[in-house]
Amino acid sequence: MSERVAMLREPYAGYRQPRGVAEDAELTHVGPGTPCGEYLRRFWQPVCMTGQLTDLPLALTVMGENLVAFRDRSGRIGLLNRHCSHRGASLEFGIVSDRGIRCCYHGWLFDVDGRILETPGEPPDSPLKDGFVHGAYPTREYKGLVFAYMGPPGAKPDFPVYDSLELPDNEMAPYAIHYPCNWLQVNENPVDPYHSVFLHSRVTEAHFDVSWGALPVVEWHAKAGGAGVHLTNTRRWKNHLWTRINEWVAPNFAQTPDIYQNPDREKFFVRAGLSKWAVPVDDTNTMIIAWRHFNDDLDADGKGDRSAIGFNKVDFLGQTGARSYEEGQRIPGDYEAQVGQGPINIHALGTLGYTDTGVALLRRTLREGIRAVGEGRDPPVLAPTPAGHAPTQCGDVIVDVGDMPDDREIQGEIGRAIGRIVVETDNLPYAERRAEIERRVRMYLAER
Ligand code: FES
Ligand SMILES: [Fe+2]
Repeated sequence: MSERVAMLREPYAGYRQPRGVAEDAELTHVGPGTPCGEYLRRFWQPVCMTGQLTDLPLALTVMGENLVAFRDRSGRIGLLNRHCSHRGASLEFGIVSDRGIRCCYHGWLFDVDGRILETPGEPPDSPLKDGFVHGAYPTREYKGLVFAYMGPPGAKPDFPVYDSLELPDNEMAPYAIHYPCNWLQVNENPVDPYHSVFLHSRVTEAHFDVSWGALPVVEWHAKAGGAGVHLTNTRRWKNHLWTRINEWVAPNFAQTPDIYQNPDREKFFVRAGLSKWAVPVDDTNTMIIAWRHFNDDLDADGKGDRSAIGFNKVDFLGQTGARSYEEGQRIPGDYEAQVGQGPINIHALGTLGYTDTGVALLRRTLREGIRAVGEGRDPPVLAPTPAGHAPTQCGDVIVDVGDMPDDREIQGEIGRAIGRIVVETDNLPYAERRAEIERRVRMYLAER
């Protein structure tokens, strides 16, 4: 674990800045055989959008491994080691076939599971292709994303279906954005709600609604068994009290409520505005692979734009490298704040405060998971609901509190109660859960 190196104690002390301080390799190195890489490989990870799979192969790098993804002409998805196991030609130049992919160099044909179906230049009776297989990973297509399991074959977990991804009447628009920096600095952003007050509101201009600039009362809560973190983020805005619950599920899944939320009316558990993974490409590159959600309860002011979502684009400010350098300097967004930390943030040169409680909790949760896998144990996961879904807590609850005094202690207390009610109802189907949350929140407020 990295410790904070000596702080500078005098003005104009730049010369004394510590040099050559190393990154926290345990949390940031993701290649095969690294402790964190082995841990991340125990989970299904999204690797691309299904829309990226055309009639041509797609070269991908995931967790430091060079791969090729394709959909064969019978509709099956393959994710194979990129270099042909004959003499190493890249399968990104392969020919997508009726069954599997054919290497361009000598025509070897590989099935989606890595079996070698043909070695056409070899003698007809050659046993060569039957003696070994090409490296392949199991995949699963889900709502416009392709997921892969890249861990040891015997340790493959069930594919987790999060309840928030199975809502009725909810459209999910996939997107994928490249961040040229380490996965951890992208991953830890969602448990840091204070950046919304500053980066997204006060520092330059309001990126979303002006209400985001009100300083909230935030509490972080570890999920059962150490499977992640959610936080209650409560603020007063005019006569409403708005509790926003963000969450992160280890190792790299996060959900944020409605990004265009306007807390001007009562709402009971409007769910995620976006659900995303921070997937390491290698130690210094990351893909956010995600969905934006569209339904009648979200974005009441109609600020979202379904057509602006896809590969390296999404419909809110400052999320990609597509803006000019000057635009990024004048109105910095999440992209500038996260990529600007450098290729790999050096934790030992940073200074965590109270507002970074969630970041500290996330790093500790990861470290415990990494060490559990290193010791041969399974990392914790969310226990499924009766419907078989992984329960999540992300959402907004907004209540009219009239002329209640603007007291942060009271706000914290109410936010905590709302967070508890949301967690206690997480085994219910969505419609029932919403109704129960409304009933119990109203009862709590009437009785307090
Ligand atoms: S290198 Fe692929 S078939 Fe020869
Ligand atoms: Fe942000």
